[in-house]
Amino acid sequence: MLDINTIEQFDKIATPFYYYDMDLLRKTVDHAAEMAEKYGIKIHYAVKANVERRLLEYISGKGFGADCVSGNEVLHAYDCGFPADKIVYAGVGKSDKEIYNALKTGIEAFNCESLQEIYVINEMAHVHGLKANVSVRINPDIDAHTHKYVTTGLYENKFGISQHEFDKLIDILKKSGHINFIGLHFHIGSQITRVEEVFALECQRVNDIVAYFERNGLKVNNINLGGGLGVDYDDPDENAIPDFETWFRTISENIVRREDQMVHVEPGRSLVAQCATLISRVLFVKSGETKNFLIMDAGMNDLIRPALYGAYHKIENLSASQRTFYPTHQAYDIVGPVCESSDVWGAGRLLPLSVRGDLMAIRSTGAYGQVMASRYNMKDLAPSVFSDDLDSAPAVVDYFEK
Ligand SMILES: Cc1ncc(COP(=O)(O)O)c(C=O)c1O
Repeated sequence: MLDINTIEQFDKIATPFYYYDMDLLRKTVDHAAEMAEKYGIKIHYAVKANVERRLLEYISGKGFGADCVSGNEVLHAYDCGFPADKIVYAGVGKSDKEIYNALKTGIEAFNCESLQEIYVINEMAHVHGLKANVSVRINPDIDAHTHKYVTTGLYENKFGISQHEFDKLIDILKKSGHINFIGLHFHIGSQITRVEEVFALECQRVNDIVAYFERNGLKVNNINLGGGLGVDYDDPDENAIPDFETWFRTISENIVRREDQMVHVEPGRSLVAQCATLISRVLFVKSGETKNFLIMDAGMNDLIRPALYGAYHKIENLSASQRTFYPTHQAYDIVGPVCESSDVWGAGRLLPLSVRGDLMAIRSTGAYGQVMASRYNMKDLAPSVFSDDLDSAPAVVDYFEK
């Protein structure tokens, strides 16, 4: 929950902006690191969730690796302090340029997602006299029980290599002289809340697959289980730090591992979602035929999750929380300014009576928020504002002043 002093400071800042609570980020990352150490698991932060340099520098400084899904993410992660030998690179469609740059950077591993990709990497490494570390992403056909757009481990999804190609895959890996096979990679989905059930199932399936590869002569030194730990969008104050312990305990109770096998995970959302809040202002209050609309200055261009996945974000009226009058509540459709009917933050949300100029907080926006922002409708991009550096935030301008 934001304190009164911070809300007063927000009044001086031009909206919309992404506010980063750096203290919460540090607590979350530190807690994850402590739990990973306890259960002997290595963390690679999934950079795609948020690429803000200050966040990446803190996370890399903690000794975590990085999980990237594009060539530019690889270069950015490296630039933000992740050593090359701690960067893994997944993604179904790596271009020649991206493969070349990652090869030259000397990354920890390519997480390959098709047989053809392995051929291409082997060939390019051969031409340049290099050897590429390769881990193979497997599609384990497991239902993560999450939104269909963030389910990635079913045969109907485009990710990973599925069972019918295992024998061919093993053959190719053995014959590819410029590839160093280091392990297997999995990632079944995001925002997983049935943690014990889903990750136990994933581990059991992974155990069978690892055993199959080893029986067929390939040593699996690294088992990467991907990310997916969900966060509490309904109550971000009560559960500000996700339950890393349950996730890691479930893994260590269910995975079969030898002493020399390393287990990796790739959390994105769980490390960064709760530390950011999108701060916006009410531009206009409008009464429609059947509804009351609160029209905000932040829209789907700033955060597309509600329009894209129907995602829920808790919304609070910060200004009303400071008032002692206006005790009544009202149902509002909270909407953005973009010319699309899907630009809706929340329908029928009960809020204290709200007025033009009120500051609004859209909570839990640190993951898959700012990274997906666009300049649709030629809107400006919302900047980052950090809790420990509020003074450098862009100042609000009063256009009524002559
Ligand atoms: C390969 C891979 N690893 C890790 C993640 C991070 O997932 P999450 O943010 O749910 O932890 C993703 C996200 O989709 C991913 O594609």
